[in-house]
Amino acid sequence: MQKQTVIGFIGAGNMAFALISGLLAGKFLAQNIKISDLDKPLLKQRKAEFGVETFSNNAKLVRQCDVVILAVKPQILPTICQELREHITHKPLIISIAAGIKSSSIAGWLAGDLSIVRAMPNTPALLGMGATGMIANAACTAKQKKLTEQIIGSVGLCFWVENEEMMDAVTALSGSGPAYLFLLIESMANTAVALGLDEEIARKLSVQTALGASMMASKSDDSAAQLRAKVTSKNGTTQAAIESFQEQDFELIVSRAMRAAADRAREIGAEFDSNE
Ligand SMILES: NC(=O)c1ccc[n+]([C@@H]2O[C@H](COP(=O)([O-])OP(=O)(O)OC[C@H]3O[C@@H](n4cnc5c(N)ncnc54)[C@H](OP(=O)(O)O)[C@@H]3O)[C@@H](O)[C@H]2O)c1
Repeated sequence: MQKQTVIGFIGAGNMAFALISGLLAGKFLAQNIKISDLDKPLLKQRKAEFGVETFSNNAKLVRQCDVVILAVKPQILPTICQELREHITHKPLIISIAAGIKSSSIAGWLAGDLSIVRAMPNTPALLGMGATGMIANAACTAKQKKLTEQIIGSVGLCFWVENEEMMDAVTALSGSGPAYLFLLIESMANTAVALGLDEEIARKLSVQTALGASMMASKSDDSAAQLRAKVTSKNGTTQAAIESFQEQDFELIVSRAMRAAADRAREIGAEFDSNE
């Protein structure tokens, strides 16, 4: 039954690529996936990669779909929604992955009583290792929520959050989070080079350390704090490093950075809020 659901992507960029890869690796068929974009060479590339039907006209795509995934940059979402409003009388499920844009703004631009899900994925979705927070509006049925879980879950973990304000916390945690870890990996490798290690070896060791530690945290029943305690022997090297982090209030640094990300997400949402 689900195999017959036709899913259309508006925007054929990075996130569409990630999601379509995940859908095709799962139970969805290429014949039920369609993409539209203004970039014709990119559409040609996606058709060759996935064997899906492509469109350079968003309205034409939308008329054929049960689910429409808005995978374009936030700035052009208002224009796209206004362009689509006459073509959604069949009431497809709308899933927006645009950062910061509220469901109510999308509903206002589309001008219809529509089922809308807002989802915030992250770039590891490209490897099927994504982490996504989602919120459904009141019009969404249980069946539509299940279908959303199948679509978004095809590229990693996904969770429903209780209210839309929590999407700002999701953005600050998993949405922007990969970049925090890249910064840590970069700083660790740079310091190792300053301590005399070969650059290539330093880069590989720092990446593998992050990967190994993340795998341990993901597979262990212990919390991150417990895992840290287990590898921090008294008067050892790790303790020296952790104490140095704590003297400089590492937790406060992280907290300030994440609050800045959440504040910026709120600002972007307010900038585009059709109700403000
Ligand atoms: N990448 C991430 O890590 C990430 C994480 C979470 C959420 N998101 C959200 O996901 C959305 C897509 O991000 P992305 O990284 O996939 O962006 P992207 O690679 O730039 O893809 C967007 C695509 O939409 C196309 N486009 C522009 N105007 C269009 C129009 N009028 N009709 C149809 N297609 C149009 C763009 O073409 P041009 O390049 O020619 O403009 C581009 O190919 C964004 O809203 C972003 O906030 C991204």
